[in-house]
Amino acid sequence: MTRIFSGAKPTGHLTLGNYLGAVRRWAEVDQHRADALFCVVDLHALTVDHDPGRVRRLSRQAATLLLAAGLDPELCTVFVQSHVDEHTRLSYVLECVAADGEMRRMIQYKEKSARERAGGVSVRLSLLTYPVLMAADILAYGTDEVPVGDDQSQHVELTRDLALRFNQRYGQVFVVPRATHPPVAARVMDLQEPTSKMGKSHESGAGIVYLLDDPDVIRKKIMRAVTDSGREVVYDPGARPGVSNLLEILAACSGGNPKDLSGVYESYGSLKRDTAEAVVELLRPVQARHRELAGDQGYVEGVLRAGAEKARGMARPRVDEAYRAIGLLATA
Ligand code: TYM
Repeated sequence: MTRIFSGAKPTGHLTLGNYLGAVRRWAEVDQHRADALFCVVDLHALTVDHDPGRVRRLSRQAATLLLAAGLDPELCTVFVQSHVDEHTRLSYVLECVAADGEMRRMIQYKEKSARERAGGVSVRLSLLTYPVLMAADILAYGTDEVPVGDDQSQHVELTRDLALRFNQRYGQVFVVPRATHPPVAARVMDLQEPTSKMGKSHESGAGIVYLLDDPDVIRKKIMRAVTDSGREVVYDPGARPGVSNLLEILAACSGGNPKDLSGVYESYGSLKRDTAEAVVELLRPVQARHRELAGDQGYVEGVLRAGAEKARGMARPRVDEAYRAIGLLATA
């Protein structure tokens, strides 16, 4: 059976980008067709300046939201990364296979480290090694497919390179995974700055729809989205990023295709109104279920505990094998 692994990091509240690019597909498709694991990758949230209490709260909230979005512990494994030691055990071994130069070429490292240096913040070493930990997340489970948004493609490419290199040097241990992306909305853009990705850790929230935003806040953010000069509704992400982003969001919510939808609208106003309503309706059941689950944290904790135990059992043999293959003595 196909093995799927994916994750979301608790550096901020989950966004519409996370939902359309990844989480929704995990719930609607992936968990039904494969042996799937979904992870709140909390160790990754420590790579930038962080408040411990906030990371704990966001991890709990992310796990609750994944369940609210429809992940069913009867169908898939939901857990928290730091509860399964195999991730960091394997990460170190993969650091011994990765090259310093290829880590420094990662786009997200270049962008984030430049931002931190500009803000006078020292860049954590873990920000540089982060993609190796991500590779370990994936490779520990013999993953075939990694359903992610567009922005994670380079990291999955690196994961493939590390798996191939390891296998070639030390023997066949890892499955070489591939990324899969949704057909639309693989990169939802910021509503105020439609040439940048809608990201959970941006400074201002005006261009970001959070999954737990009130319906009125969602409407306001979408109605105030920056559109392009010109008046016609055209789908052309290069030349008309603002309108094209709205068309992608609407298409993802309503099941259409952005190009066809562009022909339906004569004004930006009506496109924004319909997009806002479509997003509000799409998120309504997720928000309702989140309210229920937020009041039943005992259930959520139980799911995470059982998930971690299952994940540990799945990862352990392969990580042990990697240890032996690379030259470490087996434990008695
Ligand atoms: P993260 O936490 O930034 O995002 C979680 C998932 O949401 C997708 N995503 C988006 N998709 C479309 N439009 C957007 N604006 C948008 N923003 C985020 C991401 O592509 C991702 O699929 N490094 C990963 C977390 C991670 C991981 C892993 C993922 C750690 N280990 C192993 C897969 C497998 C990250 O930062 O995702």
